[in-house]
Amino acid sequence: MNKYSFDNSLGQESYDPISRLFHWGVVVLLVVEFSLAWTMPDVHKDTRPEGLIHWHLFFGTLILATVILRILWRLTHAAPPEVSMPRWQVLAAQGTHKLLYLILVILPLMGWANASSRGWAVKFLGVVGLPALSPKGSSWGHELGDIHQAVAIGLLVIIGMHVAAAFYHQKILKDNLLRRMLPSRF
Ligand code: HEM
Ligand code: HEM
Repeated sequence: MNKYSFDNSLGQESYDPISRLFHWGVVVLLVVEFSLAWTMPDVHKDTRPEGLIHWHLFFGTLILATVILRILWRLTHAAPPEVSMPRWQVLAAQGTHKLLYLILVILPLMGWANASSRGWAVKFLGVVGLPALSPKGSSWGHELGDIHQAVAIGLLVIIGMHVAAAFYHQKILKDNLLRRMLPSRF
């Protein structure tokens, strides 16, 4: 046993349990958030943040808070040593992970700024009032709505690459990299 909590059958060390919980917790929250985004009514000038739109704001701000905590956790808890692979692959993986963290912070902030420009009061967990990120009626806050949608699609593309890389390791390289991020009973 070491500080990464267990070694798997290939002698690889895993992420600590909290990192793994954050990873899969954010995956679940993103599934909920995208499902809400694509089923909520179109947002127009006079739309109110009610029903599914309310829940999009609720889960969006929850994702932002969770990801900030996750980044703080990650900055204070090292990842397990890299598996053996070419340098460019290590750099590509690290770059992709940093990009994912960056988008997971910027994307909710853009949605929040767009909500503020519509004059909506954004509340954390539906109760704790958050400050407006843009003045009501601001044109740049309005523009961020379209950019928010485009960046959400970009996030899906990068997630697709990330998942494809995970399965490449699992099925082609057979290095069991996935197990570093799975619950310890796997
Ligand atoms: C990671 C978190 C988030 C994801 C993945 C996400 C995703 C999306 C997506 C895909 C759309 C487009 C929906 C469509 O096609 O009609 C959208 C729209 C929107 N989101 Fe988010 N969102 C997130 C966080 C937030 C947050 C935190 C807020 C506000 C507090 C927010 C406010 C909005 C608003 C106001 C729109 C409508 C924009 C417009 O039509 O101009 N989102 N979101
Ligand atoms: C079925 C879906 C997914 C699978 C199979 C998967 C798999 C993995 C694996 C195996 C790792 C560890 C890589 C290593 O050991 O070097 C990892 C790390 C990571 N994953 Fe995922 N992942 C999935 C979805 C996601 C999603 C949706 C996100 C967020 C948008 C995400 C963000 C990350 C990040 C940021 C890391 C880096 C952790 C760190 O070192 O800080 N993953 N993923």
